[in-house]
Amino acid sequence: MSGVSIRPSLRGLKFSPTLLINEEVAEYRRQGHTVYHMGFGESPFPVHPAIQDGISGYSGRNQYMPAAGMGELRTRARQYILKKHSIDNDEFDVMIGPGSKELIFDIQLAVDGDLLFPAPSWVSYIPQTLITRDEVVRIPLGPQTSYKLDGAVLERRIVESRREGRNPTKLILNYPNNPTGMTYGPAELEEIGAVCRRYNILVISDEIYAQVAFRSSHRSIAHFYPEGTIVTTGLSKHLSLGGFRLGVALVPRRLESVFQVLRSIASETFSAVSTPIQYSVLTAFEENPAIERYIAECTEIHDIVTRYVWRTLQVLGVDYAEPQGGFYMYPDFDRYRHRLADSFGVHTSDELARHLLRTTNVATLPGTAFGDEPEALRLRLSTVDFDGLTALTRYREDPPGAAGETRAACRSAENAFVEAACPRVAEGCQRLVNYFSGGAS
Ligand SMILES: Cc1ncc(COP(=O)(O)O)c(C=O)c1O
Repeated sequence: MSGVSIRPSLRGLKFSPTLLINEEVAEYRRQGHTVYHMGFGESPFPVHPAIQDGISGYSGRNQYMPAAGMGELRTRARQYILKKHSIDNDEFDVMIGPGSKELIFDIQLAVDGDLLFPAPSWVSYIPQTLITRDEVVRIPLGPQTSYKLDGAVLERRIVESRREGRNPTKLILNYPNNPTGMTYGPAELEEIGAVCRRYNILVISDEIYAQVAFRSSHRSIAHFYPEGTIVTTGLSKHLSLGGFRLGVALVPRRLESVFQVLRSIASETFSAVSTPIQYSVLTAFEENPAIERYIAECTEIHDIVTRYVWRTLQVLGVDYAEPQGGFYMYPDFDRYRHRLADSFGVHTSDELARHLLRTTNVATLPGTAFGDEPEALRLRLSTVDFDGLTALTRYREDPPGAAGETRAACRSAENAFVEAACPRVAEGCQRLVNYFSGGAS
């Protein structure tokens, strides 16, 4: 055969930038270079022993599971998620899939119409629309509002896009947010939910970082708009189980037709999530005190490390609200624009990320990967380039900021913790500071 022709709609589809940077950094490291990896967001902690023990016990389970997932897992997952995401309504069906990324894709595929896309947002939402061939209605957000959507802006964009002949039917909302680290409070969610109800918009609420919210509990928009919200979540972030590939979608019973299509898509594509994995994560959906403690400890470490990076970058005068969850931040280096252009010929976030990697060995992701304008000099920094076991052990032996310490003492204990347990994060930050303050400002 001399070749095949790729479907035109897929010719623009590229390999995921987060996975790409990870592979590039791995190759760079294999060649012996030291890289400070602020480009990829994989939670680094070891699998909790209760889950690890479980998996070997189920290795003999070789039957297919039902397409929507094992009954007991679905029941437990619903109860657990309703509680953890503070949703006082149990009118939801549960779909288990191979990661929430796949479930988000399947929901986009199932629901007709244009996607309302707050920009910046996570890297995969837009590429997924290339596959589903959906149109995107962009809602540009900026640092002045901490990149957060509000009801009035959403309403304006819906009305305006309808006037242009567009058909917005679904909104993707992610909180705590990747890339910005921001989250939404109850009043903000209630307002967004009310607008969506008024205009009959489905909310795809990506809440994968719900249990990595810092110092405030997470509440889902599904609490305010249960009939029109599909919540997606999983185990990849708070339990560091990305490679298990297990995600969950809560679908309102009133959207039974969506649930049925999701089930059918599963039955004709991945069939079901791996059986030993479904069994082994049963325990992740019950309130096991040891696992709860582990989740709290891992989240506390993410909080300490992420705030360390945020504080360190303050000297650069980059105005940016303190992250509220997850393990990311999204600084805007606009104030360095002239020096970057004059000294290095850097004009876009892609050029900035590439120049940083080449000159400082710090890997980041450019804002373009999140749907931002190329000229916006924004980078997503992730804060997980450390050995999770070392950090967890040290944290358990001597948690920084123990009760009774002053704020300043807590801060200096946290700094010492990061510098000792997460040295690549500390060095990566220092290199960023040197790059901007030395060479570019
Ligand atoms: C915002 C967001 N949503 C969804 C996912 C997908 O998670 P998974 O497919 O592992 O459940 C990720 C993973 O990086 C993410 O950052």
